[in-house]
Amino acid sequence: MTDKFTRLGFLVSGRGSNMQAIIQACKGRKLLAEPVVVISNNASARALDNARSESIPAFHLSSKTHPDADQLDRAITETLQQHQVELVVLAGYMKKIGPVLLKVYKNKIINIHPSLLPRFGGQGMYGMKVHTAVLAAGDRMTGATVHLVDNDYDSGSILGQRQVEVLTGDNPETLAMRVLAVEHSLYVEVLQDIIAGKIILDCK
Ligand code: GRF
Repeated sequence: MTDKFTRLGFLVSGRGSNMQAIIQACKGRKLLAEPVVVISNNASARALDNARSESIPAFHLSSKTHPDADQLDRAITETLQQHQVELVVLAGYMKKIGPVLLKVYKNKIINIHPSLLPRFGGQGMYGMKVHTAVLAAGDRMTGATVHLVDNDYDSGSILGQRQVEVLTGDNPETLAMRVLAVEHSLYVEVLQDIIAGKIILDCK
């Protein structure tokens, strides 16, 4: 990926703080990338409002707009293509990626997960459930992982990880807060490395 400004498309379901961190990095030229479209399965996602206030085209595409799963998969893919997206960034997207999108954007879809994968990943492991499981397991170290997306949950190649220490007295909320802060910088740094060609995605 050597283009001067890599065109980023986001898939989000909610708050979108990771997306916001990446947008800020683009605006500050820390990242030679341009956020060109945001898609959410959730019409009331805060991320959609934030995108619109940044003048980034933002769309709600879900089973409500497209009851047929194949049509939804195609609509998402076409929306990304229409905006000439080069790299798809999942930022708190709670839906599985469809086969068309996976094929068209093979090795060009990345995600962030709030644990040190492969620990505490897979179907059903999201949000506070991850941090609750970390504490229940008694792990002293957790963290965040950026990985390529394939056709399973949280199983694609790991592109970057950063550790966060579990502190005595932590509860899922305090841990989530510290992991999220690390996510914001890790996601930007992994994107910098992808754009600079230090991380090669087309390796499989
Ligand atoms: C983050 O914890 C991320 O790791 C996970 O979903 C959460 C999204 O948070 N995939 P936000 O919407 O980016 O604030």
